[in-house]
Amino acid sequence: MIHFQGVSKIYDTKSKALDNVTFKIDDHEFISFVGKSGAGKSTVVKMLIGEEAPTRGRVILNNIDVAKLPRTQLPLLRRKIGVIFQDYRLLPHKTVFENVAFALEVNGRTEREIREFVPQAIELVGLKEHAARFPHELSGGEKQRAAIARALIHHPDVLIADEPTGNLDAINTWEVIKLLVKINELGTTVILATHDKDVINTLGKRVVTLDNGRVIRDEADGKYIIA
Ligand SMILES: Nc1ncnc2c1ncn2[C@@H]1O[C@H](COP(=O)(O)OP(=O)(O)O)[C@@H](O)[C@H]1O
Ligand SMILES: [Mg+2]
Repeated sequence: MIHFQGVSKIYDTKSKALDNVTFKIDDHEFISFVGKSGAGKSTVVKMLIGEEAPTRGRVILNNIDVAKLPRTQLPLLRRKIGVIFQDYRLLPHKTVFENVAFALEVNGRTEREIREFVPQAIELVGLKEHAARFPHELSGGEKQRAAIARALIHHPDVLIADEPTGNLDAINTWEVIKLLVKINELGTTVILATHDKDVINTLGKRVVTLDNGRVIRDEADGKYIIA
């Protein structure tokens, strides 16, 4: 379970990026954060992965206060939470297989584990035929699916997607969203941050609307209504 308790974030003294934000996310939920650019979506994401600390309030993940985690424990947290971004962040000189495998290698996993787990993750995202390709040989949608395979390699409890379809056309957008829904149905909590109205209005899932750092709406089966 994730619990934001009265969280505020001030990057500089001028304005609040988040202003007294409170919400709970249950295990296995699919939840979207929507709002205009600058509304605070990425700040929510950064706090969940311990990249930024709240100025006020608490971010609780499975009964742990994320801001109080010693920095040495952060890699452990990152294995429980997979993250994907708008710009994919694949290593350009590694193939799809190598990109996914690298996430295991840096954790000291064995060659045998890599040979077992990497093909499973690549198969799940539908990139079996493209495992030997380099990022520049993939479409945007395929690159994002490769990033998703990498994010899932540690079997995280939570997958966070920050504007995952921001660089994709309508068809690729839909493929990525369908994949997120499938991953959620397999048991992973999915947190989506987006300003894509069409995606939200076809999902039919919980929507939290942020405006100027405040939660102005939180509805099951919500819609994207411009603040
Ligand atoms: N590192 C930072 N330093 C200063 N201000 C920041 C920083 N990151 C974000 N902000 C500001 O915080 C607000 C929320 O930003 P962000 O969370 O990135 O919103 P969103 O993802 O919804 O576009 C914006 O006003 C933005 O300019
Ligand atoms: Mg953002």
